[in-house]
Amino acid sequence: MELLVALGDVYHAERLIPISSAHISGISYKTIGEGGLKFLREISKDARVKTKATTNPLGMDRKRWREMGISESFAKKQLEIVSLFQKMGVEDSWTCTPYLVGNRPLPGTHISWSESSAVVFANSVLGARTNREGGPSALASAIVGLTPEHGMHLERNRKATKIFEIEARMSDARFGALGVLIGKTVGDGVPYITGLRADEDNLKALGAGMGAAGSVSLFHIEGSTPEFKTALSEDVERIQVEDADIEETIEDLSDIGEPDLIAIGCPHCSLSELRSISRLVSQRKLDTELWVCSSRDVVMKARTYVSKIERIGKVFCDTCMVVCPLESISKTVATNSGKAAFYLPRFCQQRVIFAQTKEILERYS
Ligand code: F3S
Repeated sequence: MELLVALGDVYHAERLIPISSAHISGISYKTIGEGGLKFLREISKDARVKTKATTNPLGMDRKRWREMGISESFAKKQLEIVSLFQKMGVEDSWTCTPYLVGNRPLPGTHISWSESSAVVFANSVLGARTNREGGPSALASAIVGLTPEHGMHLERNRKATKIFEIEARMSDARFGALGVLIGKTVGDGVPYITGLRADEDNLKALGAGMGAAGSVSLFHIEGSTPEFKTALSEDVERIQVEDADIEETIEDLSDIGEPDLIAIGCPHCSLSELRSISRLVSQRKLDTELWVCSSRDVVMKARTYVSKIERIGKVFCDTCMVVCPLESISKTVATNSGKAAFYLPRFCQQRVIFAQTKEILERYS
């Protein structure tokens, strides 16, 4: 409660409001280290979550960590973190796509989520209301059941600050690249996008790119997302995005070289993404190791697709290429994700080949 009140004071919130769910990041031992582990040991002695609470990916697959090349010492610490969270009553989720595993808030509901890609998805695609919380504040909200009312919880802060007119061909990795481009341009503003047709998987990739390269919490798409009709309140700057801009972003995020790993699934793959990957890999042999990351819940529902992918690669659950200790596993990664392409050099010391999924699988088979 002290943490939430202090945050509320910083942001001039007038009150604390009830939340319907929390999503907590800062779960990987790689990202929280000994300090985070000590904090969790302490708080989990007494604290129990009182709302629905899901958690972000771990630094490893809970069952197949040896196949990922994870050390025994890392695994021991990571499994302790899992048991501390379980003791506090969180759901066994370990994914950045909580909205695909049963934590899918209704439009207009207040929530307290960390994990930028999930925050952007919840605000923009689902019409829920959350700020970009940090792991500790989302955990505090899960325990107390409240969050300070400021930022994205208030209608007045959900208006568009820039319009992006898309006149480019869009598919697969280009959504992540567009997200990075918009995130860099808009910072912590609210983009309003015209000329874009996208399914839920595309929006997941788009929002993840925006949340990584900028501090975006919410976007609107004309004719599509739940709040677009009330998003434009005044004259805002218009920016045109053409094919060349998307291609330049992809080029900026790409290095030259041969990958030692292909990593797909940032954010975690949905059922339909696993289906399309299983089709793309059929009849194919790869020269490079392939990891596909998803949640255990989705993988359980996609057994046929997963077994097809596993003929030439590995489908890991509970983890991802960014929050696992990839720096001790690989040096150059090929990915279809704008967010991963943006983060891998920064957090995992990787060189990156950023391209469309089909192109990657054709190039390295
Ligand atoms: Fe999820 Fe890891 Fe990407 S947490 S959004 S797969 S960096």
